[in-house]
Amino acid sequence: MFFSARSGSAPPMDPVSGRLLVGLPRRPELEAAVGRWCPGQPVSYGASSLPTDGRDTVAMFVGSVEREFPDFDSRQVPKLQFVQRIYTGLDDFPFDRFPASVAVAGNVGGFAPFVAEQAIALVFAAAKAILPHHEMVRQGRLRPTLPNVNLLGRTVLILGFGAIAQAIAERIRPFGARVFGVNRSGETRPGAERMFPADQLVAALQASDIVIDCRPLTRTTRGSIGRLELEAMKPTALLVNVGRGATVDEAALFEHLRNHPTFRAGFEAWWTEDFETGTLTTHFPFAELPNFVGTPHSAANGPEDFRYALDRALENLARFFRGERPWYIADRTEYVPASA
Ligand SMILES: NC(=O)c1ccc[n+]([C@@H]2O[C@H](COP(=O)([O-])OP(=O)(O)OC[C@H]3O[C@@H](n4cnc5c(N)ncnc54)[C@H](OP(=O)(O)O)[C@@H]3O)[C@@H](O)[C@H]2O)c1
Repeated sequence: MFFSARSGSAPPMDPVSGRLLVGLPRRPELEAAVGRWCPGQPVSYGASSLPTDGRDTVAMFVGSVEREFPDFDSRQVPKLQFVQRIYTGLDDFPFDRFPASVAVAGNVGGFAPFVAEQAIALVFAAAKAILPHHEMVRQGRLRPTLPNVNLLGRTVLILGFGAIAQAIAERIRPFGARVFGVNRSGETRPGAERMFPADQLVAALQASDIVIDCRPLTRTTRGSIGRLELEAMKPTALLVNVGRGATVDEAALFEHLRNHPTFRAGFEAWWTEDFETGTLTTHFPFAELPNFVGTPHSAANGPEDFRYALDRALENLARFFRGERPWYIADRTEYVPASA
């Protein structure tokens, strides 16, 4: 593979010639953006173009491989080097259908401003008990019993200190909160006063009032907040998840919320999401708890959000075709065992 790491410098390369195969539904806005970022590049759209155009395809631009190329066989694209996804997460990417020599990139940072706003909306909804208090308004009642949580002077811990985390940090500090972070190495990042390495997650949780999970769902992060981690958090803490639901143990969270009425949670990402049918399933009645608030993975559903994400993803594809090293090449061993 001519590039393997996620960051760092590489010697200049010659432009790459070959075809771009696009799986996203063809529409004028997409075609215009592809033409803008990859001018003069031969481009094919959809699975039906594979039999004729597959042999000179060097890059793919996809949303869901399963949906767009249900019968995909990598032998149809023997020169394929690079796959760029429009979505950020790669937890559901079918790595097993691509040779290890093919580099795959998620759209890292592609939705960051919008997900950051959603995270802050959930922090406020939970901190100010907006839903239970709205219910009081509906009933014509004053004198709420649930106290507000203020951001002023509170410690906000952001798990997974990447693009979304940095966008949250910038926006939340002006409320008077201090920002801590957790990443894999513990190396400092702009926006965080203190960074913990992933193996000190419990210490980081203990030190914080508000926790916002923005981590990718990987073999390491799956279920990494369970009963013990929840117990380590302050009884009055607030947990928001805008990354992937399954980084948190669903049963443990429900139990914790039920047993600790002063603990609050706000979730945007869920354990069971079926985007084909538009169905969100939970195994516990979270929405009936007064200390829980949720949004249906809706952080990036505004019209301009897609345009922003499209440009970010195509910018990375343009790097590939210019012969530059694309950003954010995934380490597939984080998602599938090394032998898969
Ligand atoms: N709700 C939505 O609509 C929505 C939209 C977009 C994305 N997302 C989710 O948000 C995630 C983050 O997106 P992003 O654009 O911010 O990506 P990002 O810039 O790659 O941020 C993720 C960060 O997580 C850190 N990380 C990886 N493994 C970790 C671990 N085991 N423990 C702690 N930190 C870890 C990485 O930092 P280091 O490399 O420094 O360790 C990385 O910078 C995506 O993977 C996706 O699941 C949700």
